[in-house]
Amino acid sequence: MKVGIDKMHFASSHLYVDMTELARARGAEPDKYLIGIGQAQMAAIPPSQDIVTLAANAAYPMLTAEDIQAIDLLVVATESGIDNSKASAIYVAHLLGLNRRTRTIEMKEACYAGTAGVQLAQEHVRVHPDKKALVIGADIARYGLNTPGEPTQGGGAVAMLISADPQILALGTESTLLSEDVMDFWRPLYHTEALVDGKFSSNIYIDYFQDVFKGYLESTGTSASDLTALVFHLPYTKMGLKALRSALPLVSETQQESWVAHFECARKLNRYVGNLYTGSLYLSLLSQLLTDPKLEAGDRLGLFSYGSGAEGEFYTGVLQADYANGLDTGLPQCLARRQRVSVTEYEQLFKSQLAWKADDQELDYASDPHRFVLTGQHDEQRQYLDKWA
Ligand code: CAA
Repeated sequence: MKVGIDKMHFASSHLYVDMTELARARGAEPDKYLIGIGQAQMAAIPPSQDIVTLAANAAYPMLTAEDIQAIDLLVVATESGIDNSKASAIYVAHLLGLNRRTRTIEMKEACYAGTAGVQLAQEHVRVHPDKKALVIGADIARYGLNTPGEPTQGGGAVAMLISADPQILALGTESTLLSEDVMDFWRPLYHTEALVDGKFSSNIYIDYFQDVFKGYLESTGTSASDLTALVFHLPYTKMGLKALRSALPLVSETQQESWVAHFECARKLNRYVGNLYTGSLYLSLLSQLLTDPKLEAGDRLGLFSYGSGAEGEFYTGVLQADYANGLDTGLPQCLARRQRVSVTEYEQLFKSQLAWKADDQELDYASDPHRFVLTGQHDEQRQYLDKWA
């Protein structure tokens, strides 16, 4: 039985910052951000969006009444949690009108947790093939203004419906994992921005990729040349390029050129959004599937998931004949329609997020075009609005 990704949809902010402008404001060469980091624009998340609204906005456009009836597992993967106890997935399930008999959980292991959700979901569907699982990676990447990590911020959510006989990608049951205690990136409960040893984290990322990629090839007897393309977690798009380059010696010169060409498609949309932690690998997969003219049904794609702290996994999936039917085909146009904000406006948005304090707060959501918005906090409870209700 084939099990895998049946539908994918993305949501982020309607606002972005231009990386050339940000570089100039920070006294950096624009090419450092555009080429050295590999980012052209960065999503600027308004206070009226948090991981709950991003997750719900990502999922609702792709769900039919039949899907909602069949979903009995919802996983929201995030490292930008809004509560130390209650799962963000509970709010998301309510906003989406999911069945009350749904297992509803939040998962955490930095950027890796989206993949943990996908693997849990595919195992669930293998046992209950008449059911579907919804997995959403939702995050807002914050390092702080004027920090080395600032040009690698971003945010958004990728929603994936996991089912039997999937339209997009049939997932393999084999994968190779690595997890160890590494202090490359973390966020203590009292911090709103991540702490990171940037260079160290980039080196660990490469080490983990090489370890799980080679481990996967050896343990499954797969040849690197069997893989049409490699798709990476992209904290910034140059990171994936570095990892890809480390694997090129394993294949012929012709295939090296092909892998690099496929990778350029896989990083296209991430260049305009930035890091979205748990969703980054899956935005890159969407980018690959939406913008790569050379993909064909039957192609086998390798996926590398990395979460600081650290955990890595390499697994593969086979592209299905109707894959285009399951995709968020309007995404490139949606990104192109976003509104540019100045660096000063972005800084203002960055500082206006809902404050971590008990007081009642009201947020201005008038200019936020999304269906689901965060309107503020009352009696220490976040207030969400469905504008269509
Ligand atoms: N033209 C072209 N390239 C230029 C340039 C110019 N004018 N000026 C500099 N560059 C290049 C540099 O040579 C460098 O390239 P290489 O990495 O290939 O050597 C690149 O631009 C970046 O320059 P620096 O190394 O000087 O940049 P930095 O020290 O300011 O910070 C960073 C870079 C460490 C990635 C920082 O942005 C950061 O800490 N980011 C957050 C951490 C992160 O994303 N880590 C990734 C792995 S961890 C992970 O994957 C989990 C996750 O999502 C966080």
